[in-house]
Amino acid sequence: MNILYISISGNTRAFVKHLETYAKEQHQLNPANPMITSKEISENSPFEIENSPFFTFVPTYLEGGNGVDNGDTEILTEVMREYLEYNDNYKKCLGVVGSGNKNFNYQYCLTAKQYSDAFKFPFLADYELRGTSVDCQRVYQILKNSLPN
Ligand SMILES: Cc1cc2nc3c(=O)[nH]c(=O)nc-3n(C[C@H](O)[C@H](O)[C@H](O)COP(=O)(O)O)c2cc1C
Repeated sequence: MNILYISISGNTRAFVKHLETYAKEQHQLNPANPMITSKEISENSPFEIENSPFFTFVPTYLEGGNGVDNGDTEILTEVMREYLEYNDNYKKCLGVVGSGNKNFNYQYCLTAKQYSDAFKFPFLADYELRGTSVDCQRVYQILKNSLPN
């Protein structure tokens, strides 16, 4: 399973690395369990055409508004949106996993939900900050179940 992710302060990176380790363990227990490879997208990433299906992981950075009646603006993660738009890469995306901080209430994980709406791929799961081991196990199962047969 391939993951594309963006991480500004390191939480998403830590969670994805945790997922990779967990997937490796699961694969060793049973080779039918898929391993995970990941690619970090950042301001400096060359844009590439994605030829294999992947999952997108995006944290939430919004400024202004409350997302309900006066809008909100995505900051810092826009390069992920641009990467998905590049050469229709989004068509290879099997779904998005969002992260954020529940203190943001309605805006919790809103960027992932906005990507799901804009690109028409499913919003698969959410977790807070760096996630927990339970989140890791839960998200791994969801990704696995979202693979095409
Ligand atoms: C300026 C700023 C704005 C943020 N806005 C939101 C938000 O609107 N909704 C949310 O759920 N989390 C918000 N967060 C929390 C981050 O999404 C959260 O810390 C996340 O784990 C960061 O992931 P990263 O370390 O991979 O960049 C915000 C954090 C910062 C610093």
